[in-house]
Amino acid sequence: MSNELIRVENIKRYFPVKNNFGQVKTVVKAVDNVSLTIKKGETLGLVGESGSGKTTLGRSILQLETIDEGQIYFKDQSLITSSKEEKKQLLKEMQIIFQDPYSSLNPRMTALDLVLEPLLLQFSKTEALEKAKAILTKVGFTEEMFSKYPKEFSGGQRQRIGIARAVVVKPEFILCDEPISALDVSIQAQVINLLVDLQKELGLTYLFISHDLSMVRYISDRIAVMYLGKLVELGPAEKIFSEPQHAYTKRLLQAIPIADPKKARAAQAENEMNHLEEIDTSNQTEWVEISPEHFVLKER
Ligand SMILES: Nc1ncnc2c1ncn2[C@@H]1O[C@H](COP(=O)(O)OP(=O)(O)OP(=O)(O)O)[C@@H](O)[C@H]1O
Ligand SMILES: [Mg+2]
Repeated sequence: MSNELIRVENIKRYFPVKNNFGQVKTVVKAVDNVSLTIKKGETLGLVGESGSGKTTLGRSILQLETIDEGQIYFKDQSLITSSKEEKKQLLKEMQIIFQDPYSSLNPRMTALDLVLEPLLLQFSKTEALEKAKAILTKVGFTEEMFSKYPKEFSGGQRQRIGIARAVVVKPEFILCDEPISALDVSIQAQVINLLVDLQKELGLTYLFISHDLSMVRYISDRIAVMYLGKLVELGPAEKIFSEPQHAYTKRLLQAIPIADPKKARAAQAENEMNHLEEIDTSNQTEWVEISPEHFVLKER
């Protein structure tokens, strides 16, 4: 049996950019011919600078974006060609945790109601209530907190509600799009550990988008690197850090803060020089497996 949960084949998502007269001036290739697989039970980290297309790729997998080309399979079933009803069933097993837990939670609903909401579509009131309370307890809430509103909670607590809402429907897959970057640094690790614990306990598969490379290294089994809409490298997390292959991956890794000030200054100088030139990937069309499970985009 295949250990693939998700397979993405050659997907494209282009956005037209209009000029002042409403004419299409150019297109942004937000996702440009990306293929990858996500294995059951793994965490695939997705990194790349702002605007490289990470969110668009994640949203495309969840069918929150309509792709222009390509195929997406979840458990060997196409999300593109399956019927509306089949797709609805498949998408129930795919959830998302957002970056900003405040804007994604209805401010007029209590913590308990927020977690009950997705459950009431599937279960009786009694069953839903039992499940909602259990998951809120699991993410660290006490009974007194159940009836409070989002504004009465800290950012970390609000994100715990977001996490509870996502996992309570027993999904297979969760897209975590910068789930901790809006949180205070002091509580980021707690939220990450909660995600790791829940993954182990519930057998979840994550696509984890983040700017924080050391966090991604810590949490990911494999890492995918995106640059201007293209996937430029994909491999085991340790390999990406120890033997980065693509020029862009190398540049990205150089930007990690270094504790030693002397080394940090040297790295910064080199980095500033490198930033002057854009990396040209226009002739890179070959996706080459340079060592087991380590892929890099190369020229033909
Ligand atoms: N709905 C849209 N309409 C037009 N352009 C869009 C739309 N959504 C995204 N884009 C563009 O597509 C590109 C990729 O955006 P995306 O949000 O996927 O990047 P990202 O890697 O998630 O960035 P960040 O790290 O800042 O979140 C950007 O140039 C963005 O401006
Ligand atoms: Mg994004």
